[in-house]
Amino acid sequence: MRKWRLTWNLPNLLSGLYVHMLFLLGSVCVTFSDRSPEQMAAIMNCSKHERHTRNYDYMEGGDVRIRQLFSRTQWFLTIDDFGNINGTQDPTNCYSILEIRTVSEGGILAIKGIKSQYYISMNRTGQLQGKKIYNDNCNFKEVFLENYFNAYSSAKWTRNGKEMFITLSQKGRPLRGRKTRREHIASHFIPMKCREEERRVD
Ligand SMILES: *[C@@H]1O[C@H](CO)[C@@H](O)[C@H](O)[C@H]1NC(C)=O
Ligand SMILES: *[C@@H]1O[C@H](CO)[C@@H](O)[C@H](O)[C@H]1NC(C)=O
Ligand SMILES: *[C@@H]1O[C@H](CO)[C@@H](O)[C@H](O)[C@H]1NC(C)=O
Repeated sequence: MRKWRLTWNLPNLLSGLYVHMLFLLGSVCVTFSDRSPEQMAAIMNCSKHERHTRNYDYMEGGDVRIRQLFSRTQWFLTIDDFGNINGTQDPTNCYSILEIRTVSEGGILAIKGIKSQYYISMNRTGQLQGKKIYNDNCNFKEVFLENYFNAYSSAKWTRNGKEMFITLSQKGRPLRGRKTRREHIASHFIPMKCREEERRVD
């Protein structure tokens, strides 16, 4: 039996204490205090998709993590059934549950929406789109920032020698890659763990 635990407190999420706990405990991304039965059902529904994918991943091997990416602009990154990349403020939104797979050394990874089964891809012009078939446009480099956030830059494309990042603006929409900056808060995400058994230190 999987136990879902931990508190979810959006206003306090970015407080120092919470961030501290997050890294100490390796917390769970979705939490169940103050939730309606409908929300609970929706989350359990998401976890069915997770398990399915998870089994598949075991066959393929590789380091796979199940996460939500919560932006510093306060959105959960989603990939919908049309391959659109967007943000939601609903932490139970199944499209926000992501599979993050290490594809090579140096922090190169691929990010796939578990429900939609689309990979996030960035093309030469720096635009994000979902792709059903993985290719090297789907490779991102995970950058650990000093402030506990991570940033994800295209491993393939740069613009005038500058990295282009996955972003969610204040309005929860991706920016064009060429407008993105490592320092900009739209590029900053906290990967939030989703599963009890992933509480072990990676
Ligand atoms: C569970 O997922 C199925 C298929 O994605 C969907 O049709 C159904 O409405 C979901 N149920 C809940 C309670 O969210
Ligand atoms: C993206 O999210 C915003 C904010 O929630 C919403 O207004 C917009 O309709 C969404 N776009 C798509 C394509 O889902
Ligand atoms: C990049 O992706 C965007 C969004 O899907 C698309 O409109 C554009 O044509 C693509 N550009 C290239 C050069 O592939």
